[in-house]
Amino acid sequence: MIIAVDGPTASGKGTIAKALSAHFGLPHLDTGLLYRAVGWQVFLDGGNPDDGGDALAATTFPDGLLLDPELRSEASGGLASRVSVHASVRQALYERQRSFATQAGGAVLDGRDIGTVIAPDADVKLFVTASVEARALRRWKEMQARGEPVTLAGIEDDLRRRDERDRTRAEAPLRAAEDAIVLDTSDLDRDAAVASAIALVETRLRAGGN
Ligand code: DC
Repeated sequence: MIIAVDGPTASGKGTIAKALSAHFGLPHLDTGLLYRAVGWQVFLDGGNPDDGGDALAATTFPDGLLLDPELRSEASGGLASRVSVHASVRQALYERQRSFATQAGGAVLDGRDIGTVIAPDADVKLFVTASVEARALRRWKEMQARGEPVTLAGIEDDLRRRDERDRTRAEAPLRAAEDAIVLDTSDLDRDAAVASAIALVETRLRAGGN
């Protein structure tokens, strides 16, 4: 069984994907982390994330980089959004994601294009969203806890810019698949969002005869 979870930054999709993975006993892949690793590798190489060649070269990042806490920073999120516009980068990361999705027993993947590109054949697709204000506030609290010197207004601006880039890029733009269930978490806390997601997936699986 494949569960696809897509949505914009700080919508709660990562938390929901992890909870679904634990609930259904399926392995989980945070695909944003792959793009963050590419973005961070470009930075380490002294390259330009907007240059397709530099970004493609960085897709051969060492696996150990995926464990670097720096990948969770706002800076690497911004770099990830920039390298992810290149078709060559998306193609280079495709096989890794596709084979994870199609492994025996199934998987949960979260990202931007799981339901549309990586696993259009997923059994259940969730599109998790929330208002930009709610997402900015969540991200700001996270960054405060990490001790990152960021302002709420700065985070909100950055989210708007990133959303715009993710939604309007030519390659695999962020959008809900036609058969995705949309879950708006603006007014839900973490536990309520997770409980809704589990209920929605279970209902969809019953309807699909799984
Ligand atoms: O989910 P995240 O914030 O870790 O993602 C960082 C960036 O990576 C996001 O702005 C766009 C890109 N991304 C993508 O293009 N496709 C994915 N499946 C996952 C992330």
